[in-house]
Amino acid sequence: MSSKNKANRLLLLLSTLLLLVLGACNTESASDSNEDTDQKLRSNPDQIYVGFVLDTLREERWYRDKEAFEGAVRELGAEVKTLAANGNQQVQIQQAQLLINEGVDVLVVVPTDADGASEIVTLAHAAGVKVISYDRLIRGADLDYYLSFDNVKVGELQAQEIVNRVDQGTFAYVGGSETDNNAILFREGAMNVLKPFIDSGAINLVYDNYTENWEPERARDQLASFLASNSVQLDAVVAANDGTAGGVVEALGARAGEVEVSGQDAELAGVRRVAEGTQTMTVYKSIVLIAERAAELAIQVASGEEITTESTVNNGQADIPSILLEPIAVTAENIRETIIKEGHLSESDIYGE
Ligand code: BGC
Repeated sequence: MSSKNKANRLLLLLSTLLLLVLGACNTESASDSNEDTDQKLRSNPDQIYVGFVLDTLREERWYRDKEAFEGAVRELGAEVKTLAANGNQQVQIQQAQLLINEGVDVLVVVPTDADGASEIVTLAHAAGVKVISYDRLIRGADLDYYLSFDNVKVGELQAQEIVNRVDQGTFAYVGGSETDNNAILFREGAMNVLKPFIDSGAINLVYDNYTENWEPERARDQLASFLASNSVQLDAVVAANDGTAGGVVEALGARAGEVEVSGQDAELAGVRRVAEGTQTMTVYKSIVLIAERAAELAIQVASGEEITTESTVNNGQADIPSILLEPIAVTAENIRETIIKEGHLSESDIYGE
């Protein structure tokens, strides 16, 4: 293990311990009457209080989600607190419990583990708190609402942009975290597009792996060690997001730019790679759109409103009322009409002054 990895592990361990200690302290204070606790922990008991539980803040996109969601909730006159679990499901459950103890009126959750997070729904419902799954689905629970993008379509856009450029040869699939339902859907979408080419023998899929915790370094190391021990020359890599795409581009080394690589999230580093030609595309999913929609939904739910949605998604337990937004494919040709036009990133962010 590299010293950087060791340091990261140590940091994760320390933050987990700290959160567990904090969790224990808060559980103690919450053993007073609920009303009493509410008054101690909420700055204004008359205001709606929203809890936002994130998997991680290590990726740019989630930092933006946090900022946009908190801003939108406050704009609607409510109070909000965000906690992030750094990829640890047990920590996430503790954090959800902390917020429930603080008296949140609604919980908005980006689950670390789609199945493991069902416990959060159980804990929240026991306290009369409704749960909204944000971007990632919580499976196997009586979840109240699900708000995301069409994630199968995200995978289809990724593979489609690649096969528009190269529709035969040696391909790799670099997926996300297998405990994230989205990673399964992205792969499903990509395979919808790739399967006919694989079946006809035009595409040879030599590598197909998920990436624990979506870690870019892990994506890089796994692909690099595959390339080192197999004499293959890749033509394309369908990578599930910009983080893993960054790892892929590093693993490709001198061949970066010759190999088509997909991504997702329109993160600055990803969009810069698209502009310079080492990454073929990214998928733009408007963070402002999902965050503002989630804030509205959270306030409606906290106010006891029943919301009817156009679609439902089955999470293995029930048909969950769902709102699914549209993702957009971004290539070097349409960066200006998409993410710059929408103000997601500026011209100088991407191309420099
Ligand atoms: C999100 C992606 C993100 C990934 C890693 C997925 O659930 O939909 O936008 O890149 O998680 O955090």
